[in-house]
Amino acid sequence: MAPRDTSSYYPLHVAIIMDGNGRWATQRGQPRLFGHRRGGERVREIVEACPRLGITHLTVYAFSTENWKRSTEEVLGLMSLLRSYIQREAERLRAEGVRLRFIGDRTRLDSRLQRLMAGIEKLTAGNDRLHLTVAINYGGRNEIVRAVRRLARAVARGELRAEEIDEEAFSARLDTAGLPDPDLVIRTSGEMRVSNYLPWQTTYAEFEFTGTLWPDFSADELADIVDRFARRERRYGAVSAG
Ligand code: FPP
Repeated sequence: MAPRDTSSYYPLHVAIIMDGNGRWATQRGQPRLFGHRRGGERVREIVEACPRLGITHLTVYAFSTENWKRSTEEVLGLMSLLRSYIQREAERLRAEGVRLRFIGDRTRLDSRLQRLMAGIEKLTAGNDRLHLTVAINYGGRNEIVRAVRRLARAVARGELRAEEIDEEAFSARLDTAGLPDPDLVIRTSGEMRVSNYLPWQTTYAEFEFTGTLWPDFSADELADIVDRFARRERRYGAVSAG
């Protein structure tokens, strides 16, 4: 018997809130950064798994606008982890057909990190096997405010009339311009919050919350979640077909 065609129900864009690194480390009597380091290794495993699972877009929350409130040591440690991830993975991502992009307000980031981010975006710009987007200094409300400023500037310059502002014009000014909306959002560690993550883009997304701490999250668990998603019915407000 031919396999059932369920392809249209599989998520193409998965967005992940990678939570629980700190608790994972504390449970092992280790500093929080130990958990973030292990979390970074998980990112690599999940990136590798996505194409096998039919996922074309993966967006991960690496550092939120609220994360600056953490200790200086943790903030610096996370920034250094992001730097080394970009340096270490650049060639592998390019060779594996991954296009890496960043969303969030870059202006507050260290200039060396900003240069590395721009460099890898350019290096991988021609790829499209997997679109990996990393949110750094990202907050959904902040993104919306910056998009509104871009619209206001366009109106002030006479490039756009206020009446022409619609959902499309607005989406085109978000950091995620050009990316499809996520179909599925996964949050690890048992917390059931969205924490300012992609509020505009996830209006119709499905949510999955798992108790697994991010450093323990595996490609197998992702495959299970994707299968569960495929069995759910997505209607976008329409009436069920039957
Ligand atoms: C939340 O766990 C996790 C973060 C704030 C950082 C996520 C960063 C990584 C996984 C590593 C770097 C990322 C890339 C893309 C290489 P938490 O520390 O809030 O956990 P807790 O709730 O247990 O304290």
